[in-house]
Amino acid sequence: MCGVGLSDGRVDRLHSLPKECSVLDTTQLIDDRFRVCQSQLTSRGQAHVLRFWDDLSTQERSKLLDELEAVPWDVLDELIPTHIENQPEVATPSDLTPATVFPCEPPTERMAEYERAVEVGEEKLRAGQVAAMTVAGGQGSRLGFDGPKGMYPVTPVGSYTLFDLFAQMVAAAQLRYETTIPWCVMTSETNHAQTVAYFESKDWFGLSPDDVFLFSQQMLPAFDLNGRLIMASRFGLALAPNGHGGSIKALVDSGTLAKLRACGVTLISYFQIDNPLVKPFEPLGIGLHVTTGSEMAIKVVPKVDDLERVGNVCCDQGRVRVVEYSDFPEAFATSRDADGKRRFDAGNSAIHLFNVDFVDRIAGRTFQMPYRRAVKVVPYVDSVGEVVVPTEPNAVKLETFVFDVLPLANNPLVLEIDRCEEFSPVKNASGSDSLATAHRDLIARSYRWLALAGVTLPWTADHTPAAEVMILPSFAIDAAGVSNRVAEIPAIVAGDQVLLK
Ligand code: UD1
Repeated sequence: MCGVGLSDGRVDRLHSLPKECSVLDTTQLIDDRFRVCQSQLTSRGQAHVLRFWDDLSTQERSKLLDELEAVPWDVLDELIPTHIENQPEVATPSDLTPATVFPCEPPTERMAEYERAVEVGEEKLRAGQVAAMTVAGGQGSRLGFDGPKGMYPVTPVGSYTLFDLFAQMVAAAQLRYETTIPWCVMTSETNHAQTVAYFESKDWFGLSPDDVFLFSQQMLPAFDLNGRLIMASRFGLALAPNGHGGSIKALVDSGTLAKLRACGVTLISYFQIDNPLVKPFEPLGIGLHVTTGSEMAIKVVPKVDDLERVGNVCCDQGRVRVVEYSDFPEAFATSRDADGKRRFDAGNSAIHLFNVDFVDRIAGRTFQMPYRRAVKVVPYVDSVGEVVVPTEPNAVKLETFVFDVLPLANNPLVLEIDRCEEFSPVKNASGSDSLATAHRDLIARSYRWLALAGVTLPWTADHTPAAEVMILPSFAIDAAGVSNRVAEIPAIVAGDQVLLK
């Protein structure tokens, strides 16, 4: 069954009332709910959010109450003084060491171990024990694209979107391994309805809707710098998704984890919406994760420079953890080994493997993921109900990060991947990590796969691709896949735009 409803446990009480319920009953119910909320808010100095109450329609009142009732005060009461009114101390230990990384290419003495891992990974896929998961609940504000980021056209040839590519990857892996691969997509209230509509308009990209699980993460209210709730409208709070760390709880609360278990899935291949090069079904990583007894894997890329804006995968008192670039002391970032190599070189690609059992274990109530404070520009309504768009950051949003569960994992696998093969995120409108760099990298990878298959390719004088070639996942998901289809590839000459699908 595909899960397309809101999954944060909220109930639309107005619409769930029995038909015979009279207007009087409805008003009474709303009044009762109002009184409970009012008392909760007053005791916290937050009753200003009810200031337009008398002028609201029944529908508007109901919507506001829905939002207020979903505010997790149990968590926020503690966080307001420490994380909203104040900037929490982020203590980066001074004795961090580089994490032990499994190399991308095995040295001779480990060749057999890697070959065996590939077999194990393929067996796991064939057995239908692997699901894919895309986190797509973010607001994508840096890219400046109006809509869910998954709907962003990303291919250098054709206008295939990120969702198109991932759906094709799932379909291609299903064919190759003769199995079913459930695909989980985490959205948020900001983009859930649009995402569902997009999947429907694309007829679920030819996948079975029963194997695609769309579910929403939790939203958290934004606060002003004095710890007061911000209103986005006269009857709505300013809400933001609670960070990709929310995926752990959302997987459980939405019932998706239970559905995966019911399908026989034991492992989730997790990736971000922004990486069109990702290879979620790459058997080596899956196999090494299994053979090393890892509960959570993280794939890392060698950093392009000391200060690249990626998380740094480190070892802290024997536990693997990620320290975000913004918290990573420059002295660490620039430090060198005796042989002159960068000491902390493992950049977080945000591609993970999770055991279903591990997710279940850590989603329990006892573990609270650390919250991060982000100060942002958030439009608000002023005391007379007018919308104000501030020019300076005015609000605090709280987020948790999924990599903060790494230290809880037993035997976490840290596996290096080839950046050219698997990592080129689209985050910015221009410059690094933009559409332009993703186009360049998609073409370069297509060229590499074709060259490996013995296809003749046109090059410029300075040895860059002279044609724009895009291999869609429906044509091949790796170099081996291209080799099997060489006969279908047309002659490619300089200046061509070629789409292999
Ligand atoms: C992230 C990592 C960084 C890593 C880099 C690799 C963080 C804090 N940092 O950076 O360590 O090196 O990717 O590309 O994550 N998302 C949700 N819900 C949310 C927030 C985000 O689903 O509430 C999703 C987004 O849709 C996106 C992903 O998480 O798919 C990444 O979020 P983003 O905030 O863009 O992280 P980055 O700063 O790019």
